[in-house]
Amino acid sequence: MSNDRKMLVTSALPYANGAIHLGHLVEYIQTDIFVRYQRLRGRVCYYVCADDTHGTPIMLKAEADGVSPEELIAKVAAEHIRDFSDFGIRFDRFGSTHSDENRQLAEDFYHKLRDAGHIAVRTIEQAFDPVKQLFLPDRFIKGECPRCHAADQYGDSCEACGATYAPHDLINPVSALSGATPITKSSEHYFFKLNDFAADLKAFTREGALQPEACHKLDEWLTAGLTDWDISRDAPYFGFRIPGTEDKYFYVWLDAPVGYIATFWQLRNELEGRRLSLSDICDQWSQYEVYHFIGKDILYFHALFWPAMLQAARLARPKSINAHGFLTVNGKKMSKSRGTFITARAYLDCLPPEYLRYYFAAKLNAGIEDLDLNLDDFRARINSDLVGKLVNIASRTSQLLAKYLDNALSDTLPDTTLYQEFLLAGQTIAGHYETREYSRAIKAIMDLADRANRYVDETRPWEMARAVQRRAELQQVCTQALNLFRVLVAYLKPVLPQTATSVETLLGGPELTFESVKTPWLGHTIQPYTHLMRRIEASDIRPLMPDPETPTKAESADPKAGPAKAPTASQTQTPGEDLGLITAEDFGRVDLRVARVVNAEYLEGADKLLKLSLDLGEGRIRTVFAGIRHAYPPESLVGRLVVCVANLKPRKMRFGVSEGMVLAASDGTGLFLVNMDAGAQPGMKIR
Ligand code: MSP
Ligand code: ZN
Repeated sequence: MSNDRKMLVTSALPYANGAIHLGHLVEYIQTDIFVRYQRLRGRVCYYVCADDTHGTPIMLKAEADGVSPEELIAKVAAEHIRDFSDFGIRFDRFGSTHSDENRQLAEDFYHKLRDAGHIAVRTIEQAFDPVKQLFLPDRFIKGECPRCHAADQYGDSCEACGATYAPHDLINPVSALSGATPITKSSEHYFFKLNDFAADLKAFTREGALQPEACHKLDEWLTAGLTDWDISRDAPYFGFRIPGTEDKYFYVWLDAPVGYIATFWQLRNELEGRRLSLSDICDQWSQYEVYHFIGKDILYFHALFWPAMLQAARLARPKSINAHGFLTVNGKKMSKSRGTFITARAYLDCLPPEYLRYYFAAKLNAGIEDLDLNLDDFRARINSDLVGKLVNIASRTSQLLAKYLDNALSDTLPDTTLYQEFLLAGQTIAGHYETREYSRAIKAIMDLADRANRYVDETRPWEMARAVQRRAELQQVCTQALNLFRVLVAYLKPVLPQTATSVETLLGGPELTFESVKTPWLGHTIQPYTHLMRRIEASDIRPLMPDPETPTKAESADPKAGPAKAPTASQTQTPGEDLGLITAEDFGRVDLRVARVVNAEYLEGADKLLKLSLDLGEGRIRTVFAGIRHAYPPESLVGRLVVCVANLKPRKMRFGVSEGMVLAASDGTGLFLVNMDAGAQPGMKIR
């Protein structure tokens, strides 16, 4: 890979109506590691991001807060910037989609699309809130599911049965804003004729920009056929007015990705100390290799709409689109109501940012699978890898060096072969960063850390320290260990930039890079050892832990942040996309079994839980804590058959480990265990 590539890297633009949370941070940390790695290799690599400021939810949030949208987005931007910076996420520029640059670019895109005949204007009918005087996005309409009759479902899909439909299919629909029954009203909308770009998009799937899973998705969408994309919204709307109209605005997703270029534009202005013209910046954009990092939920916008827009405007398509999976906390989707919603700030109040960077790196790869933050595992992992292995190498040996050798390093290494081994491994590790296989990079680095600790264990410097005549030997061993440590810290620098800086101060010498550590650091005096990292205690993570009494049964999904994300039925939409639908295979992963309750009892100090002993026909009894205390006296349960999820990860709770979960229905008014017909035997699989 040549060093004259110019790279422009982006993360998705966070909505300006809420706090940064740990789920977001998966993405920003993943991107930041990539960028830091590229810079460490001496490449020109810019990292830009911005707040995504437009749309109905932001307008309504401002209204609810009694401020103007401009005030809201300014306040949120300041919070976002502070959170990112405290996590070591180092943007070259963090902008806003509500900027002059973005307006100019969005208008320019629109004009290019229109002049080339890719815009259609049609009148459509939509739900309208007669009280709020507002067209209602599907997500702001609620009602009874036409298929399964679950109450209180959103206008685009049912969270109970997974059906997708149009808002007017709902039974007794109401506006989520006013409670009024929506009326149907027609208005003129502007559409981007996406299908004009079907062939270009097909070509895009072969350019190597997309992960295999994403290629596959795009192919599916192309096969299903591309319909026109509704890019306009009626006033009132917080956004950019469409030129030539009185009361039409660009849909937020039209100007959001344009924000990537707009922020790049601001950055170039700043770096060049002049104001570049729009055509200058378009030229520059096309000279950079553009890398987008996104979550899998917004693939549709980045792999379909965005490349088509770029194509229409004759701008280069991105070199690479990297989608990642979603973060769960302790195996569950983050949820405010369940106390598993952890903001960036709440984490920072408890723990050092680099621990999370490390943990995410250790779990991330180039795929789009979801990843889990299990807080117990997190604690164990940090204590074992970072404190127990990595820092241990330095703390053991630098303290000996301080005590017996005035912090002076020897002039030579006693084991250059071992040092060479470490350098050689650097190539593999670099390759893993390059391909975003961070978990492999971390694994390789930790294997080396084990090797370094073994070196110390085998050479036994603490024994050398006891004999005055063995000082030279002691010095060499400590120097060797500290040099191995130095190489490891250089390899970890994209992940742990702050720690790397502390180590640079501790050891002195050139900045740590993959290149600079090729020369061992010898014959110098180092700084006295200062504590680099501390262990995580149980009390550190407790404030972040969800209430241990929270029932383990599946609960209703998170109330959605707003409607801006899911395409509405009038826009291009593939059934099942972004709506939480699962495949038969997904469902097959859940092992449901008939179980007999052999014992049930109250738990001291628990007001929701019962302790159940279940026979699943396995020749042993399982313990399950179920949040059914209010609904069932224990004695009524003994002997009855229930349905149990048998392959649920055991979950540690205050009262012990729960080894499954019992299925029940609930809607807040009552709780009803799932019944088994007579004749079923414990252990039978339910399909
Ligand atoms: N504003 C849009 C993106 C516009 S890009 C032109 C948006 N914003 S968001 O705030 O909802 O999400 C920002 C990024 O964070 C997205 O890539 C999203 O996938 C990611 N994540 C949000 N919650 C997440 C998890 N729980 N886990 C992992 N990533 C998550 O979408
Ligand atoms: Zn339903």
